[in-house]
Amino acid sequence: MANAKYLTSIFTIIITLLFSFTTAKPPTFHRTISPTSLGLKKEKLSHLHFFFHDIVSGPKPTAVRVVEPRSTNTSSTLFGLMAMIDDPLTVNPEPGSKLVGRAQGIYGSAGQEEMGLLMIMNLVFTEGKYNGSTLSLLGRNAVLSTVREMPIVGGSGAFRFARGYAQAKTHTFDFKTGDAVVEYNVFVFHY
Ligand SMILES: *[C@@H]1O[C@H](CO)[C@@H](O)[C@H](O)[C@H]1NC(C)=O
Ligand SMILES: *[C@@H]1O[C@H](CO)[C@@H](O)[C@H](O)[C@H]1NC(C)=O
Repeated sequence: MANAKYLTSIFTIIITLLFSFTTAKPPTFHRTISPTSLGLKKEKLSHLHFFFHDIVSGPKPTAVRVVEPRSTNTSSTLFGLMAMIDDPLTVNPEPGSKLVGRAQGIYGSAGQEEMGLLMIMNLVFTEGKYNGSTLSLLGRNAVLSTVREMPIVGGSGAFRFARGYAQAKTHTFDFKTGDAVVEYNVFVFHY
């Protein structure tokens, strides 16, 4: 009889423990993990150098106007204009130079008083160890300044956790066609 009582109280304790365990730990969707569990070792700094070809003229433009309010043409800064781009990135400034990737995204004229583009683009690399990896750039491009700095806000593949900045410098600009070649220096921390 005493034995049965003993067993009952053990049973009660186990039930109570199980109950408190389930009530104390609500279901969760997040946890803290160590960087090594994602294979992340030492952060490194990389410098990428390439030329960006923005071709707006001819039969195969790489930048096309997608939004253009009526007021754009009477604005000295082309305010409101937006273009979708798929611009080649090459090792040298010549158009036939070795391709290393593409700049895919949108730029739009966001300044009414002063020429300033809002740049939203992914730098998609297709060459060497960065083939398939991307960097995301989001920033202001004051195109009339000699060097424009824009943040790199993230990346994918080899550029996971990337952060840094890009410096753009116009290499050539054809006033007749509007085509431009821009030199880019990109500095990024990544793993
Ligand atoms: C603005 O000018 C461009 C180039 O001259 C022309 O192709 C376009 O139709 C004009 N857009 C508007 C909305 O007037
Ligand atoms: C880049 O990766 C793609 C897809 O995996 C592959 O088809 C292509 O050949 C690679 N290019 C280079 C230059 O390695």
